[in-house]
Amino acid sequence: MPIEFDPKQQVFHLYTDGMSYVIGLIKDIYLAHYYWGARILTVHAASKWRFGPRPNTPTPEYPDLTLHLDTLPQEYPTHGRGDYRPPALGLTVLDDGVSALKLAYRGHCIERGKRPLSGLPAAFVTDEAQATTLTVELGDEAVGLSVELSYALFERFNLVARSAKIVNAGTRRLAVETAMSASVDLPHDAYDILHLWGAPLRERMVERQPLAPGTFRFGSTRGASSHYHNSFFALLRRDATEDTGDVYGFSLVYSGNFLAQTHVDHDLSVRAMIGIHPFQFRWILEPGEAFQTPEALLAYSGEGLGGLSHMLHRFIRQHVMRRPFGVTERPILLNSWEAMYFSISEDRLLALAERAAEAGMELFVIDDGWFGERNDDTRALGDWTVNLEKFPSGFAALAEALRSKGLKLGLWIEPEMISPESALYREHPDWVLRTPYREPVRSRHQWVLDLSREEVVAHLMGVIDALLASAPIAYVKWDFNRYLTDVWSRALSAERQQEVAHRYMLGLYRLLAHVTERHPHVLIEGCAGGGGRFDLGMLQFMPQMWTSDNSDAASRIFIQYGTSICYPAIAMGAHVSSVPNHQIGRVTPLGFRAHVAMSGNLGYELDLTALDASERAAIREQVRLYQEIRPLVQFGDFYRLVDPFVTRDRASWMFVDEARREAVVFYFQILAEPNSPVRRLKLKGLDPQALYEAPELGFVMSGAEWMHAGFALPTLASDHQSLLIRLKQVP
Ligand code: GLA
Repeated sequence: MPIEFDPKQQVFHLYTDGMSYVIGLIKDIYLAHYYWGARILTVHAASKWRFGPRPNTPTPEYPDLTLHLDTLPQEYPTHGRGDYRPPALGLTVLDDGVSALKLAYRGHCIERGKRPLSGLPAAFVTDEAQATTLTVELGDEAVGLSVELSYALFERFNLVARSAKIVNAGTRRLAVETAMSASVDLPHDAYDILHLWGAPLRERMVERQPLAPGTFRFGSTRGASSHYHNSFFALLRRDATEDTGDVYGFSLVYSGNFLAQTHVDHDLSVRAMIGIHPFQFRWILEPGEAFQTPEALLAYSGEGLGGLSHMLHRFIRQHVMRRPFGVTERPILLNSWEAMYFSISEDRLLALAERAAEAGMELFVIDDGWFGERNDDTRALGDWTVNLEKFPSGFAALAEALRSKGLKLGLWIEPEMISPESALYREHPDWVLRTPYREPVRSRHQWVLDLSREEVVAHLMGVIDALLASAPIAYVKWDFNRYLTDVWSRALSAERQQEVAHRYMLGLYRLLAHVTERHPHVLIEGCAGGGGRFDLGMLQFMPQMWTSDNSDAASRIFIQYGTSICYPAIAMGAHVSSVPNHQIGRVTPLGFRAHVAMSGNLGYELDLTALDASERAAIREQVRLYQEIRPLVQFGDFYRLVDPFVTRDRASWMFVDEARREAVVFYFQILAEPNSPVRRLKLKGLDPQALYEAPELGFVMSGAEWMHAGFALPTLASDHQSLLIRLKQVP
């Protein structure tokens, strides 16, 4: 099995063809981290660490003066016995206040396959042979604590899925205050950290910076993974590039508050961890109870950031997105939002649908405004029944009308929310997430439902089941348009209030598990005021995300490029919208907008009835072209060629199929340059020996020539111009 235990050296070697992850026991007690990186064939544990006295450093195994936790690389560090770096686990024994822990090895087990995590999304296998799981049990006898660390190794990926289960195996009550999903101590070296930050309308901007001594942390305390920081980061050896070098990716399979943290210590080792944010988190464990952390994916690439992205993209499609969505094509959709906002009615939508059908689109999505008294964003969230004034025939008849045009029906919902002005609020004012003292803070005029409560989740299950039973609805856009405030639940005692944010997530996951089990063929697109919950937890249930509320193509180049570092194109909802763009007023050509949107999951979000015949013909052609390249975009390997975060005015990327027979290249000139230099574009990912022809350019070259010598880009005369170049192998 690709996880081996060497009892003599007390070492676990987890390996794939391309990676080794080595951990082991020191003095039969401490679970140490020995190595993570390119595959090694032998492990000589003693060569990995130097023991010896160090000045002013506590010695937990006195009289042995050579062991110090403050520098020992560990797998799940605690604090209180001489390790002063940030801990992975922090807890307090409630009746005496003790918090210094000593976790000691108790046993382990290695088994085929991978188990699901109770109540939480997690990477899955479709066949036991795809993964092997190591569980290491650590314990603190005196405290009555047991910790089960789980390592699921996916053999076709250089990837380990880690999580921890904290068990109160004693007789006293415990309060868990920090419980990271994974922590790794990488040896002395110079690393950079790359992370994805931003804000609404400019999500997932790429930032790479050197790590320096001290702590660097980011995360979210907003009740969702957030627009501001994505729950992913990569550590890169300083010499690593897009195509070369060692890169370590960390991604959390969770959608709530999270912390990502690195700490460079006085030995220049890096402790890297990711998990639930400890701020305002405290989970009480009664004797016999357990706390399961979310899962973190730890992926290694020796082929730079691009190599890491390829692996994560494939992995997310195959082992994170629920079946069948990671492996089946997504429909080209028309969304009503930017086309009509709240001014929707059956007649207007059917006229729009007529045009969408003419253009060859496949799915028609009615966005906000179809339910209750929802005529603007101040009311009716919670009242999920169709407004019969706007839709006199109801959705079953509408779905049938759409079907006759070749379109499926999709609907927008925002089930986690409640408007103060709604029938739901009048009936259940106590279901709002709020403290007992004052009215909760509004955001977009709305409040959040307390999903930590069973009856609220049960109500939403019933509502969504009824809606999906009312008509053949093929798609749901599940929105979440504000962050949590006033986090307090009347269902919990005072000492458990810091469990609410996580219990909210558990309630949401329970709801999503119910909906996706009951309605497995309904495609759910996640949205959170755009890309405010673009994370692996959501992607399990909602295999595509509305990437950003910013639909401007020039901005989207940056957003989609940044998003691609971790997430595959099939996850990114990308729409062609009208000009001047509704978010920033920019005017760009229709072709440019389409090329950006075709680089993700193509959709249209504009009033097709207001376009002239030539624009409609152009759109029909775009839809046809996308249908041809869709397998490449949605399942191919994505290569970044020109980085807009470096150039600011140009970008390029390409998709290559697994067999390297076909590719599609996109080049974007964001801003034109007068008398510009001759620029050569060099491709990636092709078979160097094979010949490829590019009909758009009119020539044939070997893969090696396309990749190493490249080709001179034609002059593009003005701002916002783009090229789409298809490559096909010729015999
Ligand atoms: C959010 C979404 C938009 C749209 C509106 C509807 O802002 O991000 O795409 O669905 O809600 O109110």
